[in-house]
Amino acid sequence: MSEAAAQFSPRVFSGIQPSGGLTLGNYLGAIRRFVDMQNDGIETIYCMVDLHAITVWQDPEALRRNTRELAAGYIASGLDPAKSILFNQSQVVEHTQLAWIFNCVARMGWMQRMTQWKDKAGKNQQNASLGLFAYPALMAADILVYHATHVPVGEDQKQHVELTRDIAIKFNHDFKTDFFPITEPVIEGTATRVMSLRDGSKKMSKSDPSDMSRINMTDDADAISSKIRKARTDPDALPSEVAGLAERPEARNLVNIYAALSDTDLAGALKDVGGKQFAEFKPMLADLAVAKLSPISSEMARLMQAPEEIDRILADGAGRARAIAAPILKRTYEIVGMVGA
Ligand code: TYM
Repeated sequence: MSEAAAQFSPRVFSGIQPSGGLTLGNYLGAIRRFVDMQNDGIETIYCMVDLHAITVWQDPEALRRNTRELAAGYIASGLDPAKSILFNQSQVVEHTQLAWIFNCVARMGWMQRMTQWKDKAGKNQQNASLGLFAYPALMAADILVYHATHVPVGEDQKQHVELTRDIAIKFNHDFKTDFFPITEPVIEGTATRVMSLRDGSKKMSKSDPSDMSRINMTDDADAISSKIRKARTDPDALPSEVAGLAERPEARNLVNIYAALSDTDLAGALKDVGGKQFAEFKPMLADLAVAKLSPISSEMARLMQAPEEIDRILADGAGRARAIAAPILKRTYEIVGMVGA
């Protein structure tokens, strides 16, 4: 842990957008690591960031369903509401209140450099929502309203966590304080960037128009097997050394998924599967994926039968989250000079 983070007790925060179904990328890159950190005995806070989701259009019914389904995905993957605080962002108003302060600290130029903004706004920036532009300031507020010191994320969120650090540094500097921690991104493990099954140069994403590009956590065994069978590959057998995957993004991605699902790394996976043709490797990968993912998807389906129980867990989590966030927001208001705070 860095020196700056050392004066704050360790606290983990992370979030996922309920903007569609959960993918294998979310599971391997984020949720599985959320579970590990929870079980390491650190204080862990995990959120469904519904306010981030609406920076692009969401059908209200779908948003409600996706928020509950994400909560079910968290719990089915091993997050325990008794150990971790689980809630949806809109229910803890301190996030948006701190985000406003950060909107006034962050600079337009910082936001303009964000690759997610450039990707999502595309050529038509004038027509993108103001919320999409300010997205990273709300994300900084999510993290800093708990004084979180560590944020487990996939590779694609690194730039946003770095911006969170910049916001904390500027706030501390402007107000001559050391009130906010300089948070560390935690980007570890084999699967920090799971790629599309159709194109090894693109990230696996819930927003890809092709459902064949991703494995959804709600896919059944047939769907998982068929997506892996049809995944794009090349004609060669798998190499026995990691270096042999260098120019083979699709092969590398499938071996990487195999490695992550069997709790090893690329070299470890190649000990099992090096030298095999895809005709032999793909069914092995499909069997492994089904064995690891089916128990989670059936538990998700079971939990979704009782949405009122999910809502109860989220309401309880929101109460516990507010108990931490409210005094931090109050102190921020005092530092900034708000009368009555
Ligand atoms: P989101 O919802 O896009 O993704 C949630 C988490 O899943 C990771 N991830 C992946 N990891 C590996 N391979 C992939 N193909 C892959 N796709 C997604 C993401 O890196 C992320 O960790 N801005 C965030 C949500 C957010 C947040 C926060 C995160 C809002 N506030 C505060 C951390 C802390 C996002 O859009 O993630």
